[in-house]
Amino acid sequence: MDGPGLQADLKRLEEEGQAELDAAKGEGQVQAARTKYLGRKGLLTQFLREMGKVPPDQRPAIGRMANEIKANLEERAEKALEKERSRQKAEALLKEGVDFSLPGRKPQRGSRHLITQVTEEIVTIFERLGFEVSEGPEVELDYYNFEALNFPKDHPARDMQDTFYFSPNMVLRTHTSPVQVRVMESRKPPLRIIAPGKVYRHDSDPTHSPMFHQVEGFVVDREVTLADLKGTLEFFVHQLYGPGVQMRFRPSFFPFTEPSAEVDIQCVICRGEGCPVCKRSGWLEILGSGMIDPEVFRFVGYDPEVYSGYAFGLGVERIAMLRVGLNDIRLFYENNFQFLKQF
Ligand code: DAH
Repeated sequence: MDGPGLQADLKRLEEEGQAELDAAKGEGQVQAARTKYLGRKGLLTQFLREMGKVPPDQRPAIGRMANEIKANLEERAEKALEKERSRQKAEALLKEGVDFSLPGRKPQRGSRHLITQVTEEIVTIFERLGFEVSEGPEVELDYYNFEALNFPKDHPARDMQDTFYFSPNMVLRTHTSPVQVRVMESRKPPLRIIAPGKVYRHDSDPTHSPMFHQVEGFVVDREVTLADLKGTLEFFVHQLYGPGVQMRFRPSFFPFTEPSAEVDIQCVICRGEGCPVCKRSGWLEILGSGMIDPEVFRFVGYDPEVYSGYAFGLGVERIAMLRVGLNDIRLFYENNFQFLKQF
């Protein structure tokens, strides 16, 4: 036997085998073709058994070729059987009356929750102003949630934020303001931070939920002034509600800011005319803010003679409710798909 002649024989065997497998109809014919070539007495099997007769120098090449052909034919036989099996299955289903031409069921596609959308929108506005995102833990030490924000133990200011205690010094955070302390403690100014997240309070009625979302923002640098705070918040309000919307600062009190102010915008429902939503005042309160109290700087080791800063905090649910005209906060958390997918 010579090499080229053997290779030609093998090639022919392969082509014939392929053609027979391709032409085979029904499981029986496929199995028959498989046996004819690959069975114990099959043509290819016999060929391989007679490898001893091939001159030694040609054995590796011929052997490799024969094995490749074997693998190829085996794969084809397997595919042909698979095709045959699914044809049988389809036939059986058709008999049962299953209609394959019907369109498939589409999996329901989710979308971002309105609270997530509004949070992202707010964060993006501040990112464009160079703020960087930072987050803190929801289970927070009393020290960060209250103490270092200048709420001394047993101080009446703590009553505004009744919360859930894990232990005397660990709470579910009542606001995102503790992120201020955590960031300041670990870094040096200048800082421009925006901190979104979940917060918790012992509160529950149509406009208050025990869990809700806030976005905190703050800036610390040399010579930061109230004018910077006002300019930044005005930019924010105009980005969120449009350039025509008026804004006002109202003096207020927070333990960690001095001076403190609450910010109102012209009622987005009645445009300032007076309606039930703004309780006829024409204004809606949207956030708390102020200049960071020197006492907070002392807690984190910043020199209040060198640095100054402003901070603000807003509730996401309130902004979202005003946007879509909702009067019950609980709708956000009921996971009613019909409700959620409107947004
Ligand atoms: N943490 C306050 C609250 O939840 C909101 C707040 C007020 C945040 C004034 C601030 C601020 O950063 O300056 O009621």
